[in-house]
Amino acid sequence: MIPKKTSSLIFYVNGQKIVDENVNPEWTLLTYLRNKLRLTGSKLGCGEGGCGACTVMLSRFDRDTKKIVNFAVNACLTPICSVHGSAVITVEGIGNVANGLHPVQERIAKSHGSQCGFCTPGIVMSMYTLMRNNSLPSMHEVEVAFQGNLCRCTGYRPILEGYKTLTKEGAAGGCCGKLQNGGCCMQNGTKENGTCTNGGDAEEEYGLFNPNTFKKYDPSTEFIFPPELQLTSDYDDQYLVFNGERVTWYRPTSLGQLLELKAKYPYAKIVVGNTEIGVEVKFKNCLYPVIIQPTRVPELVDVKLESKGVRFGSAVTLSDMETVLREQIATQPEYKTRVFSAIVEMLRWFAGKQIRNVAAIGGNIMTGSPISDLNPLFMAAGCELELKSKDDHRVVTMDDTFFTGYRKNICKSEEILQSILIPYLKEDEYFWGFKQAKRRDDDIAIVNAGMFVRFEVETNTIQKISLAFGGMAPTTVMARTTQSSLVKRQWNQHIVQEAAKTLIEDLPLDPSAPGGMIEFRRSLTLSFFFKFYMIVQEKLNQRLSYVKPLPSNFKSAIQVYHRGVPKSSQISQIVPSGQPDHDLVGKPIPHMSGMKQATGEAIYVDDMPKFENELYLALVFSSRAHAKLISVDATEALQQEGVVDFISAKDIPKERNKMGAIIHDEEIFASKTVTCIGQPIGAILAHDQATAQRASKMVKAEYQDIKPLIITIQDAIKHNSFYQDWIRNIKNGNIEKGFSESDHILEGDMHLGGQEHFYLETQATIALPKLEDGETEIFCSTQNPTEIQLLTAEALGVPANRIVVRTKRMGGGFGGKETRSMMLAIPVALAANKLKRPVRCMFDRDEDMGCSGTRHPFFCRFKVGVKNDGRVMALKMTLYNNGGNSLDLSCSVMERALFSADNAYNIPNVDFTGYVCKTNLPSNTAFRGFGGPQGMMFTENVFDQIADKLNIDPIQLREINMYKEGDETHYNQPLEYCTIPRCWSECKANSEFAKRRQEVDAFNAENRWKKRGISLIPTKFGIAFTALFLNQAGALVMVYRDGSVLISHGGTEMGQGLHTKMIQVASRAMRISSDKIHIMETSTDKVPNTSPTAASAGSDLNGMAVLNACNQIMERLEPYITAKPKGRWEDWVTAAYFDRVGLSVAGFYKTPGIGFDFKAKLGKPFNYFCFGAACAEVEIDCLTGDHEVRRCDIVMDVGESINPAIDIGQIEGGYMQGYGLYTLEELRYSPQGHLLTKGPGMYKLPGFGDIPEEFNVSLLRGAPNAKAVFSSKAVGEPPLFLAAAAFYGIKDAIKSARKEQSITGPFRLDSPATAERIRMACIDQFTEKFPTPASNTFKPWSVTV
Ligand SMILES: Cc1cc2nc3c(=O)[nH]c(=O)nc-3n(C[C@H](O)[C@H](O)[C@H](O)COP(=O)(O)OP(=O)(O)OC[C@H]3O[C@@H](n4cnc5c(N)ncnc54)[C@H](O)[C@@H]3O)c2cc1C
Ligand code: FES
Ligand code: FES
Repeated sequence: MIPKKTSSLIFYVNGQKIVDENVNPEWTLLTYLRNKLRLTGSKLGCGEGGCGACTVMLSRFDRDTKKIVNFAVNACLTPICSVHGSAVITVEGIGNVANGLHPVQERIAKSHGSQCGFCTPGIVMSMYTLMRNNSLPSMHEVEVAFQGNLCRCTGYRPILEGYKTLTKEGAAGGCCGKLQNGGCCMQNGTKENGTCTNGGDAEEEYGLFNPNTFKKYDPSTEFIFPPELQLTSDYDDQYLVFNGERVTWYRPTSLGQLLELKAKYPYAKIVVGNTEIGVEVKFKNCLYPVIIQPTRVPELVDVKLESKGVRFGSAVTLSDMETVLREQIATQPEYKTRVFSAIVEMLRWFAGKQIRNVAAIGGNIMTGSPISDLNPLFMAAGCELELKSKDDHRVVTMDDTFFTGYRKNICKSEEILQSILIPYLKEDEYFWGFKQAKRRDDDIAIVNAGMFVRFEVETNTIQKISLAFGGMAPTTVMARTTQSSLVKRQWNQHIVQEAAKTLIEDLPLDPSAPGGMIEFRRSLTLSFFFKFYMIVQEKLNQRLSYVKPLPSNFKSAIQVYHRGVPKSSQISQIVPSGQPDHDLVGKPIPHMSGMKQATGEAIYVDDMPKFENELYLALVFSSRAHAKLISVDATEALQQEGVVDFISAKDIPKERNKMGAIIHDEEIFASKTVTCIGQPIGAILAHDQATAQRASKMVKAEYQDIKPLIITIQDAIKHNSFYQDWIRNIKNGNIEKGFSESDHILEGDMHLGGQEHFYLETQATIALPKLEDGETEIFCSTQNPTEIQLLTAEALGVPANRIVVRTKRMGGGFGGKETRSMMLAIPVALAANKLKRPVRCMFDRDEDMGCSGTRHPFFCRFKVGVKNDGRVMALKMTLYNNGGNSLDLSCSVMERALFSADNAYNIPNVDFTGYVCKTNLPSNTAFRGFGGPQGMMFTENVFDQIADKLNIDPIQLREINMYKEGDETHYNQPLEYCTIPRCWSECKANSEFAKRRQEVDAFNAENRWKKRGISLIPTKFGIAFTALFLNQAGALVMVYRDGSVLISHGGTEMGQGLHTKMIQVASRAMRISSDKIHIMETSTDKVPNTSPTAASAGSDLNGMAVLNACNQIMERLEPYITAKPKGRWEDWVTAAYFDRVGLSVAGFYKTPGIGFDFKAKLGKPFNYFCFGAACAEVEIDCLTGDHEVRRCDIVMDVGESINPAIDIGQIEGGYMQGYGLYTLEELRYSPQGHLLTKGPGMYKLPGFGDIPEEFNVSLLRGAPNAKAVFSSKAVGEPPLFLAAAAFYGIKDAIKSARKEQSITGPFRLDSPATAERIRMACIDQFTEKFPTPASNTFKPWSVTV
């Protein structure tokens, strides 16, 4: 009997029992925690299992093993009904600031592993779960635990360093990393008493934290598993049903019940991990009215060892499967478990730990994704599947007849997959699997494969071969022709070329196929087969004397990827002895909010409690890129229960329906025409988020397309579509004369892709209408509260003094919240005022990515003249950036690109022109570096090409042309205190460049299919807003009667540690300890007319304003200090108060002596410059395009650092963001302008596994900067470009690969240097088989914008 009455959901959260009689089966655990239990520590970063911000620990009692099992899960994908009978631990449950932090919370905070903090709770919970399972893990286990967590700020190194202290390696006395040469004191024989000589007192020397102050980890103090769940099996034995309004959830406890349900509801979905279904429901708007959870059905969770192999129930999780397979590998003869080894290796790269802990084998098979990682292996191995329905039972072999179409298979709707048998192999059978993805960790495959071969006994004659490929068709496919043509053939090098011919026939791919990368995917199939050939050849050679060994230079091509324990060092100044304790300037103190961020107590906009009567807003976006908006009809949406209103352009007077950064060229809601996909055309207001979002998709818009559709820079050039008033040019010297004096002229071009900000916290706003005098209070995650204030006031038709914008903190900004926050904040404020109710919205990740713009893609054409000796005489560059459908900041971004395009070189004659392309993409915007990383990249490309053309050493070429003290830039600004040569030579020395260049060359000579490259790149970055008026800041310092000090300043905290630095500045200026100083938030009613926190100028400008205010306070207190010099601060404040002295002071600062007039080409745009250099060594796999950064050394001039820990954090985080920009992150748009890469699943940012294996950062010493507060320098943006060293390291490695084919000379490598670009640039016999078809012969899946 199928039960009808709804069951009670019972589970524990942080030790507390939760009983819910009326649970909504559509809710996830995250929704439940955040909205119902108000536990907002777990964050929503993506909702699709890709970022780990929502990680919590789930515990269950396993009645078979009688053990408690703890595992990390993504709460955003965990259906709430699935946690019945489990215990959940969230970040709030393990520690808090008042009662003490848990060691995993304390260590991440104190080791500077939390910047904006939005990722921190998730990382804490991944680590916590690991520690609960293993109180002394290895670093490798830590890295595996973090495969599913992303951080956009820190660059990961500090997190790993902090947690290393809890690992075996840490316990064994890891390297302190404090020696100036980056080595280890233990290597020098100075190890004393078994410990590192520098260890133990890190803060006193160069270290950034002191591990001796950390609380010890004591497993005995952990939460106990709720005894009730252990003692009774009642919760496990219940046949559950949860009835919701649209969905019913069943949890049967026997196979019979399951099959009965499936017979009654043939289209019911069987959900185990929900990692496929959850994503479909959330992002594809799918509704599955009946869900069956089979995890209590014994036949589906059993594992049986049988004579033929191991049988896994289909609901066995991937983690459990891995455990069993590993046990088998350890206990069975090697040959028997060759399939198992391939599966285990594949699982290393399958999603993250949180997903593998819950996702089931059956879910992977039955979803039938063409890029499933397991299906090619199961098919090649010929696994047996057991299918069952109420009336039938059958066993089928998994081959290419199993899948019948895209995500379809032979199972009947009433059938379920009961089990899979994975076979043992025999001695003459070999097996391996392959996967190439954009990123190694936690990424879906571009192409994958499973390959099996059986030889006639004791020979190398092929008896059977199975080759299954994913990513090459709508289903996993087998290479039938190749398989049959190879039977009876000898396994030798001839089969590689022959198989290549038939594989091309077996695996055709239309040039328009979804996923694109056609030639790359096709090349990969041949590369994989070649690798399989080599793997098997090597094994055969060990068994059969007549089989030739592989050439020694081929062997590295088949080595399994292995990464050593990451190493690092951080070198910075130490404060002078005698600096008072209260004076924090120069000390590596942790981020002031770090502890709260680690405990989940730090509040972000969407963590704020709900206001009474609050509504949720969901924007309705245009689905056409360029069209007339004929009509917008919200009738159906408005009929939905819970929907309150729809607002659109009709609700705003025409003259107020506008916004924009520099000019107001955007509509708040499109009225007549849409100019990009993702443009807001209205908004739905409803009681809750789910209703609002569902209804927003029901709003119908009618469009009439308008031509031309301009998506790419090339389209814009063709149609002359530029923001004509904003074309910029900088000239210096005489370009024609320069060319005529040159011995060589080179011309070329390069494209540099855009970059998604991927701040972990998406755009978010809450607006509270005050119902009086037009006042509105806005809580907004923005870098630019004043702009939000002014634009909202304009939209509402009230003066700015009625609007208060508050920003407590952001979960990352990176420029993406400098202007684009307006897209959400203004509609939210308009709706709140129209409906006179509080309104909230936090974008979902796909909405945020789809509408809020990115870093600008750039294209550059260059012509350069150079002398025989390498002196660059003239450089002409024309730059184009893709501005999108409004100007936003695109012109300023272009200006900075032009200012930065000299990078570190003194080129006597230049002519740089910049065009902002007007296209039908969402408006592109500021992003850390603001055009600088693009301008510099193009110049480095020119240098790279010159070195190749002239066959000159690239290092020497750069040195010949490098700036030195007193040189003038191309806009005639003299370089004072120019430390480029120092940074360069220190980096060259620290990295042992010359020696390693030789080592790299030696490696390349000995390895055909793996190549290494090394490069050294300098940088210079001008500090100031190029818009003069923005170079000002205000601060308000208030001293209260109890002596406590409240500071407000114009800067916003987005993780960069600005508030921490401001407190450090104030501690020195007022000579008081930091515990007396507090910064609450940034608010437009405390400091007016603030500039955005951008251009790396936050500390410079606000630091000076804070200093100015503090100095005024000190002047006012001076008489009382003089009168009572031995008194306490509190006494002086009290005395001043009773003397009626004002203790609230406004500080102000404007940067003196700057300003550049573009028309007259006169003036000084920058206050000063930051300099740096980086060396990166990279290894590439020529056959797949995979790469790794083996080592990176950075030397950066940050003046006298106010906080070396924060500054090093900015350098490392900036480097990793730049690394993403130049090597990994790729935005893909359809030819119609649709963003195809809208979440962490499709868009890959660097993860933990992408940091350089060795990462050394050193702050240049003895380089004070007279132009900024306490001799410091800005640090946010300047280091980002240094990641170009990785790009040019890759290019250097590619050059070695090309040399093997006798291809030399300059070649174009666009950025990012993705696996696709690397592979296709390593031209060889495989890639040559796939020439690129002419562009007019097909419609591509995606275009380069
Ligand atoms: C962040 C992320 C990363 C991922 N990375 C990878 C990756 O690297 N490689 C990869 O291949 N996949 C990946 N996936 C996809 C997914 O995790 C796997 O396919 C997983 O194995 C699905 O299992 P599940 O239990 O979560 O499926 P569910 O979502 O619970 O179910 C999936 C489907 O299978 C059906 N089904 C499940 N069991 C049965 C059964 N016994 N009988 C009949 N039908 C059944 C369900 O009805 C449903 O339609 C990723 C997913 C996410 C969210
Ligand atoms: S929010 Fe759950 S993984 Fe991103
Ligand atoms: S600190 Fe990790 S995302 Fe900001």
